[in-house]
Amino acid sequence: TDRAQFIRHIPKAELHMHLEGSIEPQMMLGLAKRNGLDLRWQTADALRSAYEFSSLQDFLNLYFEGCKVLVQQQDFHDITRAYLHRCATDNVLHAEIFIGPQSFTERGVTIESLMAGVLGAMDDARREDDVSSGLLISAHRHRTQADALALLDSIAPWQDRIAGIGMGGPEVGNPPSKFIDFFAECKRRGFKTTIHAGEEGPAAYVREAVELLNVDRIDHGNSALDDPSLVELLRVRAIPLTVCPLSNLRLKGVSSLAQHPLREMLQKGLFATVNSDDPPYFGGYVNENMIEVQRSLDLTRDDIVTLAKNSFRAAFIDEPEKTRYL
Ligand code: HPA
Ligand code: ZN
Repeated sequence: TDRAQFIRHIPKAELHMHLEGSIEPQMMLGLAKRNGLDLRWQTADALRSAYEFSSLQDFLNLYFEGCKVLVQQQDFHDITRAYLHRCATDNVLHAEIFIGPQSFTERGVTIESLMAGVLGAMDDARREDDVSSGLLISAHRHRTQADALALLDSIAPWQDRIAGIGMGGPEVGNPPSKFIDFFAECKRRGFKTTIHAGEEGPAAYVREAVELLNVDRIDHGNSALDDPSLVELLRVRAIPLTVCPLSNLRLKGVSSLAQHPLREMLQKGLFATVNSDDPPYFGGYVNENMIEVQRSLDLTRDDIVTLAKNSFRAAFIDEPEKTRYL
C-alpha cells in the first residue's frame, strides 16, 4: 500500500536492536557449523518454528542459547555486518545496536575479539553502505551490580567508540533501583545511558529509571501509561521511549497490535520511536514494525513522520550531526 511504501522509503534511525537477537536462522546454523557446535535444530525452518514465546523469560532462554554460536571475532563481525546491510536496504541511515558482553565473556570469549568484530563491521558499513551506527553495551540485570561494574571496567579501552550503556534481561524482580551505583558510575565516566523498563515490569520501574538512574532513554516504557504523573514527567523531560511493537506482541505484552499503547503514547505527547528489538525472533525489522503498527492503529502520515524524526532526535549523536538527518 501507499502507507507501507512511505514507511519503507522514509529515512529513519533504529535505536533498540540486540545483535544477539539479529541472527537469522540460516546464519545461526552456519555459525554453529563453523564453530563445531551441535544445535537442537538442523534446519532453518525447524529453528524458526521454535520462535514462539509465552513471556520475556521464555524468549530469553532461547536468546541466550543462541548466543553460544558466537565464538570468534569473525562471528561478531558477520552478524553485525548482516544487520547493517539490512539497514541500508530499509533506509535506516543510523542504527544504535546493543550487545551484552557478559553472555560471551562468561564462556571465555575475549572482550577484545567481540569488540574488534563488531566495531570492524560498523566501520565497514559506514564505508561501504554509508550506514552510520553506534554501539550500546548492555549489562544483564539478573546479574549483580558488581558484575555490571566489572563489565564497565572491561570496556574502558573502547570508551570513545561506545555510544552508550544499556541494561536488559528479565525485568520483574530486577528493578532499576538494584543498579543505582552502576548507572551513577556510567554517568561519571561520561556515557549516555538507557535501560529496558516497563516491558513486563510496572510503571514504578520506569519511574525508578528516570528518578533514581537519570537515564537518557527508556527501552520499551509501555507500562508508564498506567501512571499519569509519570507520563507527565516523561513528556516534560522529553525522555525518548524505544518502543518495539512486534516484540510486545510476540512476548505477550499486548494481545494484539490493535491494543498496542503506541498511539496513546503519541497522543499524550510522549517521545516515542519504533524499533525491532530482535528482528528474526519477533517477525520483522523496523519497517515491518512500523508498517504493522501503522495498520493496526491506523496511524496517520504525520504520525509516521513524527516517529521517523523522533528516531533521529533521540539518537545518541551530536546535535550538529543530527541536523543532517532532520
Ligand atoms: N527485554 C529484555 N532483555 C532483552 C530484550 C528485551 O526485550 N531483548 C533482548 N534482551
Ligand atoms: Zn530489547
